[in-house]
Amino acid sequence: MAAEMTLVKPISNVTPKFGSPRMGSYSKFSTIRMSATATPPPSTSTKPSKKANKNVIKESLLTPRFYTTDFDEMETLFNTEINKNLNQEEFEALLQEFKTDYNQTHFVRNKEFKEAADKLEGPLRQIFVEFLERSCTAEFSGFLLYKELGRRLKKTNPVVAEIFSLMSRDEARHAGFLNKGLSDFNLALDLGFLTKARKYTFFKPKFIFYATYLSEKIGYWRYITIYRHLKANPEYQCYPIFKYFENWCQDENRHGDFFSALMKAQPQFLNDWKAKLWSRFFCLSVYVTMYLNDCQRTDFYEGIGLNTKEFDMHVIIETNRTTARIFPAVLDVENPEFKRKLDRMVEINQKILAIGESDDLQLVKNLKRIPLVAALVSELLAAYLMPPIESGSVDLAEFEPQLVY
Ligand SMILES: [Fe+2]
Ligand SMILES: [Fe+2]
Repeated sequence: MAAEMTLVKPISNVTPKFGSPRMGSYSKFSTIRMSATATPPPSTSTKPSKKANKNVIKESLLTPRFYTTDFDEMETLFNTEINKNLNQEEFEALLQEFKTDYNQTHFVRNKEFKEAADKLEGPLRQIFVEFLERSCTAEFSGFLLYKELGRRLKKTNPVVAEIFSLMSRDEARHAGFLNKGLSDFNLALDLGFLTKARKYTFFKPKFIFYATYLSEKIGYWRYITIYRHLKANPEYQCYPIFKYFENWCQDENRHGDFFSALMKAQPQFLNDWKAKLWSRFFCLSVYVTMYLNDCQRTDFYEGIGLNTKEFDMHVIIETNRTTARIFPAVLDVENPEFKRKLDRMVEINQKILAIGESDDLQLVKNLKRIPLVAALVSELLAAYLMPPIESGSVDLAEFEPQLVY
């Protein structure tokens, strides 16, 4: 924990620019803090208003995570003298694209937000707040990682470093916009606290590439699917944030395309049997996490007129097709057996959650969970071992990142 904290320390001062809850204008709000699993929150890390209520959100396996990596290895990977696969021309072109800053003036709020928030009541209001919190945390997590990569790669590869910094600019905007959304509900996420107190998950660089590529692309498909659905069914447009998703998701798409270019420059992460196994593993964990998470929050998706499972399967299938352009192997998610397995995992997960909510003694709860966790693991393993789809391109030079509009 301490080592991970050291890695992120240099950037923790950046958070106030989002409109941190430390600012006086937030004094009437509640400050939301996500608990760090192992460490009790240090009471002196931030000084929110004394009046603020602190809602501590429980962290679980499915909560959005913060990541850190081996920055020294990253420096080696992006050293143009060591790695001759780095196509600097392509990175220059991508940098120009990021500098264009298509969404510079996109994230401007209006009075519709507060009015819409005031109309949301009961369970839907609560689930909306949770959606904003989780999305804000996920965006903020990207901001922290990209900001640090931008800083650490400055000397070794200034072009790649600048792209990371510009991506952190995008994620800061996204997180800030979502946090402003929370202010419509008289809440604010304590991002300064999150930076310091949250547990960071360490991934080696190649795993960061797989995981981040997938999370950007799945983010793109989630946002664009919600946007298109609400455009076709405006009666479900109950909060204006969704109107911003069309341009917003293009940021995520560009981020994903940048990771494609990064992986092309590291063919050792794409061209052997280990890469195939890891690709499938990351696809599975990202898809299952989303499916289980969303199936716990069907009220939200139904609230905006979506069928949760249909929405998720659409997002999974499209993300998988996009991913197949770069990963050497992907899952056969269009095989109906894959969805059946996901649905069985949802059932098992619901039973596990029900045990957690029961009045049993902790020991009894743990004992009851054992066979269910074993069943969940066996479903996961069976899904992982389903015949995969060979994908990607051996001749990576022919692959060009494309924007999907
Ligand atoms: Fe984002
Ligand atoms: Fe992103």
